[in-house]
Amino acid sequence: MDESEVVVRVATEADAGFADAAAALIAAAARNHDVARRPPELLRAKIQAGQAVLALDGDELVGFGFWSLWQGGRFVSHSGLVVRADRRGIALGSRLKLALVASSRERHPDAVLMSLSSSPLVQAMNHALGFVRVPLDQLTTDPEFWRGCESCRNHSELCTHPGHCHCIGMILRPGEPA
Ligand SMILES: CC(C)(COP(=O)(O)OP(=O)(O)OC[C@H]1O[C@@H](n2cnc3c(N)ncnc32)[C@H](O)[C@@H]1OP(=O)(O)O)[C@@H](O)C(=O)NCCC(=O)NCCS
Repeated sequence: MDESEVVVRVATEADAGFADAAAALIAAAARNHDVARRPPELLRAKIQAGQAVLALDGDELVGFGFWSLWQGGRFVSHSGLVVRADRRGIALGSRLKLALVASSRERHPDAVLMSLSSSPLVQAMNHALGFVRVPLDQLTTDPEFWRGCESCRNHSELCTHPGHCHCIGMILRPGEPA
């Protein structure tokens, strides 16, 4: 499979029909990875708001990611970054991540970009873009963001051992390279 056959782009309102496929991609990855499941309604809203990125092979969704704004625009989180298992390792994840950075920065240039991930691949991608590791208390304090973690497979374990999140927090400050 040639990676160039797959189009990676920012979603528009017309892409709302991909919400169910995006939720299914995330749910499939969540069985084996530390990624929170998300309801199709949330993903549909992200797609319609232009806050999602798609990897499309024709009209088939093979990768996805979305961003959210917190604390009145002080922080932007990148979440739900997934590539279908049979399409991993051909740079779709990196292209989706770049599209997330570019689209969120274009609309919120003064926000701190943040990533919460246990994936060494995501951490390496972030590092290559200039993200630095920070303690989790330097990410947004918005409880709604942290509620998103409730559908992560590690959540119950973390609730009994507070502060033992498997994920690493990383940020890219405004004006820093991407
Ligand atoms: C994380 C994920 C999105 C990466 O997508 P991907 O398309 O496979 O990633 P890429 O092909 O762009 O590779 C990214 C980097 O990882 C490296 N890489 C990819 N697969 C690898 C593997 N199996 N072993 C080691 N390195 C690997 C690539 O070489 C690349 O590094 P480079 O830019 O220095 O060349 C994908 O693996 C995935 O969906 N994982 C499950 C869900 C998940 O954990 N998401 C993260 C939630 S925060």
